Order: sequence, then structure tokens, then C-alpha cells
Amino acid sequence: MKESILIIDFGSQVTKLIARRIREIGVFSQIIPFNEIKKDCVDLNSIKGIIFSGGPKSVKEKNSPKIKSFIYDLGIPILGICYGLQLIAKNFGGNVGPSTDREFGKRELILKKESPMFSNIIAINEAQQIWMSHSDKISSLPSSFEKVASSQNCEYAAIQNLEKKIFGVQFHPEVVHTFAGHKIIRNFVRNICNCKADWNMKLFKNKILTEIKNKVGDNKVICGLSGGVDSTVTAALIHKAIKNNIICVFVDTGFMRSGERKQIQELFNKNFQIKLKVIDASKIFFEKLKNVKDPERKRKIIGKEFIKIFENFALQQKNVKFLAQGTLYPDVIESKSKIGKTNVTIKSHHNVGGLPKKMKLRLLEPLNELFKDEVRELGRELSIPKAFTNRHPFPGPGLAIRLLGDVNKKDISILRNADQIFIELIKNEGLYDEIWQAFCVLLPVKTVGVMGDRRTYEKICVLRAVTSLDGMTAEAYKFKSDFIEKCASEIINKVPGINRVCYDYTSKPPGTIEYE
Ligand code: XMP
Repeated sequence: MKESILIIDFGSQVTKLIARRIREIGVFSQIIPFNEIKKDCVDLNSIKGIIFSGGPKSVKEKNSPKIKSFIYDLGIPILGICYGLQLIAKNFGGNVGPSTDREFGKRELILKKESPMFSNIIAINEAQQIWMSHSDKISSLPSSFEKVASSQNCEYAAIQNLEKKIFGVQFHPEVVHTFAGHKIIRNFVRNICNCKADWNMKLFKNKILTEIKNKVGDNKVICGLSGGVDSTVTAALIHKAIKNNIICVFVDTGFMRSGERKQIQELFNKNFQIKLKVIDASKIFFEKLKNVKDPERKRKIIGKEFIKIFENFALQQKNVKFLAQGTLYPDVIESKSKIGKTNVTIKSHHNVGGLPKKMKLRLLEPLNELFKDEVRELGRELSIPKAFTNRHPFPGPGLAIRLLGDVNKKDISILRNADQIFIELIKNEGLYDEIWQAFCVLLPVKTVGVMGDRRTYEKICVLRAVTSLDGMTAEAYKFKSDFIEKCASEIINKVPGINRVCYDYTSKPPGTIEYE
């Protein structure tokens, strides 16, 4: 039985980040919602530690999430994060109340007492950057706990009960902005819980394969391919699990990058011998998007058409019960994030937010706990060629959300040609693998130029290239200026329809990576 850490979820947006950090340490972890915890879920032979996640509620509220008290008597080390810390404080007789100075974002933590959580990280009275996101805070500490660290507005930013091995932090060690967050989690998992680091992507792959087999049984799955890494890995994974019961469908929306359809056909037919059906639906997509300028409407229309095409195709097959998609964890977070009690949609990722409420097919999303770099690693485990696993991400709605405003064949073709030149130049310069994502955007405005003594009045192409860890935050890639000049000149010379090229320096936030 594998040693593991049990993460009890109280509804935080970043609970799965805790699981990811633990995977990075080489330890298995599983997430269970707080209301599903029963004595028999906690296998004492395998579970070496428990983490309480954060959550949006206040422990003072009547209906706030609670935890059964048996959890504290198991003798397993516990780490509470944010809401988790407040719950521990309340359960042990302390008090939690609203903070007059709420803290959101980067803060400084000062260590006040030695603790195995912070060993080899900071010394007493030293400060470290942490990431806070809280309204409530502990106002009086339970007598069995001691203060370990404070921040400017939060006296009990870290607490511990060494005898019971229960720890708590008000800040979020799982987010990258907490400077030594991964070391704090490592101290808890490896030193306090004594977990062995013997978990790896191969084992993770086997776990997902078993889950897919159990869920799908003898039914058939259809899998939408977009040409990107995520859907390719999804298809290869499901094929490995259920063999020929997967049918892959590549819908050519007309918004694909140059050569995409051919590459996908070659990969699936030659490398994998996976059944692939290509449906040319570009005519429908161009028709449906005629005169549609609003980005959210574009995304919703594309998502809806996709599902319609899949469902129609599925109806013609026997026994198809599932639709597989390469949805990643950040897609799930960003499509629906909660602020207080309100759902806030940032973008409807077409493979998440665009789905109709009533669907005939059940969804199969085996990558929805993973981040991009983990999907790439999984792809390598599945022997997908590096040229595919290292491809830059490409959104489901494709070039349609990089052609701002009206979508039409002529402009998509201009954009596709410019994009191909930009990417080729980046590859020739040896920069492709340093960049998270690079692409062109075509603006719906024209400017005046002069070429060969002739006046031109054509569109502007924006070059976008960013570095990122997981697509959730990003920074503009700093090319040398002569490289940008070369791109501008090649694009303008070779792509009729563009007479000006700009480079975008906006980070995310405040921008997003894509333009729509
Ligand atoms: P944004 O623009 O939200 O993008 O900063 C973050 C990452 O997600 C990709 N993206 C999508 N991927 N379907 C996808 O599969 C979508 O609808 C979609 N929208 C954005 C984007 O390319 C970037 O890598």
C-alpha cells in the first residue's frame, strides 16, 4: 500500500495545487471533500498525514464546513491551511473573528518560535514572503497551541501543537508566491509525516488508467482532438486503457494552425494506430460566427457547435456513452471561480464553460487534476513524440479567438500565414522551448503604410509570446529587438493584408494570454 497524504477539501480554489505540490515531492495524495470523510476512508496503513485546505466560508457561520472530531484522535500529523487553520483553532477552544485589516496578496511572515515546519527555511525573527488571502483570523489561541509566526496584521499566522503534531498556517504555502511554500510542504510531508518519496508519473499514469477502465467499462468513448497536447495525451491515455473502444474525432473548425490536420492524422495513424475520424465542419463554424464580435458569444457558439457535432456523430455509433476532453485543472479554475458567493466567469473555455446544461454524453476528463507540464510528462510516459508533447498550448476555439471581432475566411488565412512565419522564426532561433506560448493576433483595425511607393491600408498583427509556469500567470518574453524587427519585416513582406506588426508586453494579470 502506497504511503500518502489525505487532503480534506473545504472548497478552496487552490486545493488541487496542494495535491500538485505533494506530487512534486514524489508523494501520492488524494483529495476528499470534507463532508465525505468517514472513519473507513482513513486507512491508517497508508495515510501518513492530513491537510485541511482553505475555503471560502467563515468558521463563525452556522452552516460552515465542519470536521468530525475522530480525525484529531488518529495520531496522524495534521496541517491546516487558512480555513483549515481556523477550524483547528475553533475545534481546540480558540476564537476566530473578522479581521479589521484583511490581507490579500504578498505579505511578510516573521518567525517567532522554532518549528519543524520552518526548519532550514527561516531563523527566529527573520522575515519571508508569503501569500495571504483571508478576512477572518485567530483572535485567541487555544491553550494547547503555541504561536510560531506572525505577519503584520495576523498575530497567529502559523501555530503548532508539537505533542499532537497538529500545525496550522494562515497563509497559502501551495501557491508559488509564498517564497518557501514548497519547502514548508516538504517539511510537513517528508520530515513531520515521514513519507517516502516514491511516487512518480508512471504510477500516476497507472492510477488514471485504472480509473478510466472502471468508469467506462465496455462502453465506447468519443474523444475530441484539437491538435493540442492535452487532447492528444487524453486520447493516447484512453486508448491505452480501453483499446479500440475509443473513437477519436478531429473536427476541422477552419480555425486550425497551419498543417495541423495533417500532423494529427500522421501521429494517430502511423504512431498509434488509433481510429481517427476527421470531420470538416469549417463551413458551419464560419456561418455560425458570421457578424459575431463578442468574445464570450464566440466561445459559447464554438463550444455548442462542437458538442452538437460530437453528439450527432455519437448517435451514429453504437454504445457511445462518454465524451472525452483534455480539460486541465487551470481550465476548471478559470472557467468558474468563486468570489464570495458569486460565480465569476473570466473566460468560458470551450471545453468547460461552453458545454450545454443537458448533455446526452457523460464527460470523461482524465487530465482535470493536472497542470500543463505534468501533462507533457504524462505524454512522454505514453511515448508521444517530443515534437507533440512540447507544442505550445492552443485554445479549443483556435484562431477564431485570435482574430478579433468578425471571423471570416480571408482574415483567418492571413492570421494563419503570419502565425506560421512567427513560429518558424522562433524555432530557427532555438527559442521555442523557452517560451510557454507564442502566436499572432490580428486586430480589426487598419493603418496606413507605404510599400514600393504605393500607399497601403491594411491590418495590424500583434506578436504575443509569454513565459509561464502553468498559464495562470504569465510574463511577456523579452526577445532581442533585432529579432522582433526580423519577424515584423518577414510577416509584412510575405503576408498580404498586414502592413504593421506590434509586440505585446502585457503580463497576466492584468492581461490574459489570449486576447478574447
Ligand atoms: P488565458 O487567455 O485565459 O489562457 O490567459 C490561459 C491558457 O489557456 C489557454 N486557453 C484555452 N484552452 N480552451 C482551451 O483548451 C479554451 O477555450 C482556452 N482559452 C484559453 C490559453 O491558450 C492559455 O494557454
